[in-house]
Amino acid sequence: MWDPAVYRRFGAERSRPFFDLVRQIGAEHPRAVVDLGCGPGELTRTLAERWPRARITGIDSSPEMIGKAAADPGPVDFRLGDIAGWQPEPDVDVVVTNAALQWVPGHREMLVRWVTELPSGAWIGMQVPGNFDSPGHRAVRELGAAPRYAERLDGLLRADPVDDAAGYAELLTGAGAAVDAWETTYLHLLPASPAGEDHPVLRWMEGTALRPVRAALDEEDWVAFRAELAIRIAETHPERHGVVAFPFRRIFVVASK
Ligand SMILES: C[S@@+](CC[C@H](N)C(=O)[O-])C[C@H]1O[C@@H](n2cnc3c(N)ncnc32)[C@H](O)[C@@H]1O
Repeated sequence: MWDPAVYRRFGAERSRPFFDLVRQIGAEHPRAVVDLGCGPGELTRTLAERWPRARITGIDSSPEMIGKAAADPGPVDFRLGDIAGWQPEPDVDVVVTNAALQWVPGHREMLVRWVTELPSGAWIGMQVPGNFDSPGHRAVRELGAAPRYAERLDGLLRADPVDDAAGYAELLTGAGAAVDAWETTYLHLLPASPAGEDHPVLRWMEGTALRPVRAALDEEDWVAFRAELAIRIAETHPERHGVVAFPFRRIFVVASK
């Protein structure tokens, strides 16, 4: 289950890649724009400012996220739906998908299918995190392999759910698209938490990567897992001068046909 309030912690840091992505999409007058895995909707609504004449749709499989988005939809039509089953309508000229495809197995094949099915002149802009080898993710996988948790977390903690920029570029040029692909490591300087409060990197990870762990464990094991993870994260991400440096690599691909 996604919790929009927990996800929106660190909203400024999380939204920056979205704007860095959308800026590179060259569509001028798209008829319809779709945001796949739109989350709580604030970022999707900004697409209506960029393309005021377009029909904008946000799609997400989480009822909690769509509930939050649809509470204040603005000019956007928010719908519950699974990216894996999404088929482009004939007038979709722009597909945006930000920080969502890492959750969708088989998304490489889907990207190729979209290139084939979208109309001529259409654009796809996608961004996925490329930090699955970071100390925080490694710590989650190492802890998750401990006998206490391993059976319930088996298959949930993927080491490699995304490609790098070169991999997506090869995939999509092979499908006939023109591609602009790049990687950026943002250095988020997160304010250190006051004594007695949770480490900011742990709070960040609770909004995303730790969700499946939380859902799979009972309360007692989740509390133990979280406490062990907190110790490791404090070691790998120490506080200096009131901030915690949190490098976050992201992979961007803009494809047009
Ligand atoms: C990290 S959030 C990103 C939200 C938003 N795009 C943003 O940039 O803030 C990932 C979103 O993808 C959605 N998601 C994950 N798997 C999905 C799927 N198969 N179909 C639709 N949405 C999915 C989640 O529900 C969640 O809202």
